[in-house]
Amino acid sequence: MKTSQLTGADPAQVVREGLVSRPKQLPPWLFYDAEGSRLFEQITALPEYYLTRAESEILTSHGTQVVRAALEGAHNPPLFSLMELGAGTATKSQILLQAAITQMRPWGGRCCFVPVDISETVLDAARVRLHKALPALIVRPIVGDHAAACAALGTLPPPRLVLFLGSYMGNFDDAANIALFGAVRLALDPGDTFVVGADRQNPVDEILAAYDDKAGVTAAFNRNILVRINRELGGQFDPSSFAHVARWNAAESRVEMHLASIRQQRVRIRALGITVAFARGETIHTESSVKYTDDRVEAILSAA
Ligand code: AVJ
Repeated sequence: MKTSQLTGADPAQVVREGLVSRPKQLPPWLFYDAEGSRLFEQITALPEYYLTRAESEILTSHGTQVVRAALEGAHNPPLFSLMELGAGTATKSQILLQAAITQMRPWGGRCCFVPVDISETVLDAARVRLHKALPALIVRPIVGDHAAACAALGTLPPPRLVLFLGSYMGNFDDAANIALFGAVRLALDPGDTFVVGADRQNPVDEILAAYDDKAGVTAAFNRNILVRINRELGGQFDPSSFAHVARWNAAESRVEMHLASIRQQRVRIRALGITVAFARGETIHTESSVKYTDDRVEAILSAA
């Protein structure tokens, strides 16, 4: 079965806008081509990257309760719909899916899982793995962005459980998360459930280590955005002339990743018909990962 195709933003236009603006910036979703998705999977297994392990522990110890709460009020439904935004290979959600299948089984109910991601490769991997591990599960992947996810959400039979894990929300500012969560809420009915994962304000040295690991996987992940621009847009970046920088922004409570030009240089991007000038030390801001207090998450949720 082929995954359904839904359009997202145009990389060419986004790269142009980001590189002509000051300060220079690129949106983090550009990381996730096939190689970037592979590198991110590697990041989740790094000793310094505590987020994935912490969240897996939470899902392992509380997954049954989460599923029970999501099924509360529905009386022996024939189907339970679970959707994951930015599912990746869905390794963590497998814990919840197992709990969901177990709780639906007594009355012969089934679970339908809809992983949504912009990377088709990771969704294919998720589908193959889940099919083997959980043969009773119906899997219907969607290649697309959050707008595509929200559009599909309303068509899924209730009860529904939407997952937005991994502190992916940290890539967006509060206004964008309020808009996204609001759109999810509109697509849901009373009794449906939304579960978000958010990273906390841990000690700054631990956060910085998680985004600048010793093995250099995060650095390769960051530079891969330049490799992608070279391949897809005829860019002439020398990725080794950009340093990986992880920086704590205390005022915004977020860790930022940048690519810092180690020398003054000009980079041609053929498909865009532009040449971008870099001063020595000038950076491209590629990602922000906000670290939350409970109050900030509460405020976002209630605003949505
Ligand atoms: C997948 C967006 C949650 O911000 O921690 C990992 C991506 N960037 N290492 C994060 C990421 C650098 C990750 N998110």
